Amino acid sequence: MRTPFVVGNWKLNKTISDALALVTELKNQLAAIKGVAVGVAPPFTAIAAVAKRLEGSPIATCAQDCYWEANGAWTGEVSAPLLADAGATWAIVGHSERRQYFGDTNEGVGKKARAAIAAGLGAIVCVGESLAERDGGKTLEVVDAQLAGALGAGLDAGKLVIAYEPVWAIGTGRTATPAQAQEVHAHIRKRLGEKLGAAAAAGIRIQYGGSVKPQNAEALMAEPDIDGALVGGASLEAGDFVAIVKAARGPSALAHAKGLG
Ligand code: PGA
Repeated sequence: MRTPFVVGNWKLNKTISDALALVTELKNQLAAIKGVAVGVAPPFTAIAAVAKRLEGSPIATCAQDCYWEANGAWTGEVSAPLLADAGATWAIVGHSERRQYFGDTNEGVGKKARAAIAAGLGAIVCVGESLAERDGGKTLEVVDAQLAGALGAGLDAGKLVIAYEPVWAIGTGRTATPAQAQEVHAHIRKRLGEKLGAAAAAGIRIQYGGSVKPQNAEALMAEPDIDGALVGGASLEAGDFVAIVKAARGPSALAHAKGLG
């Protein structure tokens, strides 16, 4: 009942022409894909060109961040309405690299999520613990604080996606096991239910992120509360990303592929 959502987070990679080459390949290779939603998050400089190239394709253009003010004297920032104007339909907020290197706080991430949704974008809110926090038994506590910051008043659950990304798994080649990820995903869904109601929580997609590869994608996404992936390194090239998207297809897509539905 939840359509999995696989998003490629390109981080600080790709010129406009490199970005266009990759999305053209993705658009062709994924033209007939069913049962999974797909997005790419280029750097800000390539968003408008990518969104234009993806016109007529179900692949969504996402931003890697957004600021919560709409406009004004905020040198260097990009707001949600400007991203929507450039053709983005989603914004990732609270990525661990933003939290770790650029000072994003739980409260700021909540403001960004609400600003994205107010501008008509969907918000992908990232949460996840560091290795020290996991080793210290604090994983669920950290995720709770991050969720509490993000899930304030005025949030439209229909536009919300959560990405659980253990920091120790990002870019390290170390992935959470499906069971480790499922434990946290189930906890997140429980908390979403307490804050937004059980029906809303049942409909919210929770992506896993952190060294997702074609080799581990299927096992991760077979878990009941893992509804897609936020993919960094393996999204920079079409072959691996397409393989991950295919691994995420829901049961209706598989039936369709087999000619059963
Ligand atoms: P990774 O990055 O797939 O390269 O680990 C994931 C992310 O940071 O979103």
